[in-house]
Amino acid sequence: MPAHQRADILFKVVRQLEERKEEAARLLALEAGKPIRTARAEIGRTIATYQFAAEEAKRIYGETIPMDAAPGGEDRLGFTWREPIGTVVAICPFNFPFNLVAHKLGPAIAAGNTVVLKPAEQTPLSSLFIAELFQKAGLPDGALQVVTGSGRELGDALVLDERVKKITFTGSSEVGKQIKAKAGLRKVTLELGSNSGLIVEPDVPVETIVPRCVEGAFAFAGQVCISLQRIYVHESIYAEFAEQFIRRTGQLRIGDPLDEQTDLSAMIHERELARIDEWVQDAVRAGASIGCGGRREQSVYLPTVMLDVKPDMAVSCKEVFAPVVSIVPYRELSEAIAMVNDSVYGLNVGIYTRNLTNAFQAARDIQAGGVIINDIPTFRVDHMPYGGVKESGYGREGIKYAVQEMTELKFVTMKTTL
Ligand code: SIN
Repeated sequence: MPAHQRADILFKVVRQLEERKEEAARLLALEAGKPIRTARAEIGRTIATYQFAAEEAKRIYGETIPMDAAPGGEDRLGFTWREPIGTVVAICPFNFPFNLVAHKLGPAIAAGNTVVLKPAEQTPLSSLFIAELFQKAGLPDGALQVVTGSGRELGDALVLDERVKKITFTGSSEVGKQIKAKAGLRKVTLELGSNSGLIVEPDVPVETIVPRCVEGAFAFAGQVCISLQRIYVHESIYAEFAEQFIRRTGQLRIGDPLDEQTDLSAMIHERELARIDEWVQDAVRAGASIGCGGRREQSVYLPTVMLDVKPDMAVSCKEVFAPVVSIVPYRELSEAIAMVNDSVYGLNVGIYTRNLTNAFQAARDIQAGGVIINDIPTFRVDHMPYGGVKESGYGREGIKYAVQEMTELKFVTMKTTL
């Protein structure tokens, strides 16, 4: 299928989603427990992601190679183009059932591939909704298959099948490692976990940044890979920051995801509530204190701020994926950078500072896929390169980068004289 046709299909998906965006947001709120305002924001991003994919379909370029740069390359033309990789398996998580699916489907279709999509077992309806839009947009039958369900048998059937040329997965580091081991020589992209950190230098106005930090820690109950989990605050403003952060957290409204006022709702699964409660109680037994929250109320884990947290506590060194954040003081920027880097993960890290030299010191020394200066690590727009180092992943998303990972580079050369 030519690029203009692939772009046209993606543009048609964009237009349909724009027309049905409120229906999609309500489906998302009901299916995942995502508060409706946050669900609407995700649908807005999903529209942008498919729009970027539609545009990207038309600019999958190769390059010309100056063949005569090497002796023996004279009188030769050399160039590259990109070919679709083939069948892509996309395995998606529950936390952004529309937009993280778009980050796989959009570039795969833009690049001319076919897709077998496995949504999270908790959120299959949003994928079926999107598949219907693709069908109506004219995607040929069979070019997109949605397989619902869960378990090793299904995962292995998808991952081990040699007809699959590319596996793109978002989820836990543990499952990511298993997929990579099973993929053999086939290509994989893995977007995995994080315990994202933020450094707050003493030269920033605390009252200005606290609301944004609270948002970063508790949006969708912290069930976001780049949720703000560890905040390192310079000791000179630590008390003020912690006091304002805890006060602001106390103002969050908990309730029904369909209520316009709700900031935070139920977690995805009982098992996750039990896990995070155990981690918090373990930390308290080991000397941490609770600034607010620290317990569950029915299916909701109350937004929890932890103080006196040590780096080896699970709430710090593991990915909490829950509404739990720790605030830790530091003396020197280099110490804060070392604490951020003391992690098996490296996805996004944030730093607030007005000092350009310090900002660039952090950008240089932080071990992560992305450094966000003057905002939280939770910041993401959908065309930026996104992905991690260490156990946070392998490869990059962000439509242009994902297209590269979903195509094969072919080199062609021709002797211009016989
Ligand atoms: C993620 O949780 O992996 C993605 C976060 C985002 O797209 O904002």
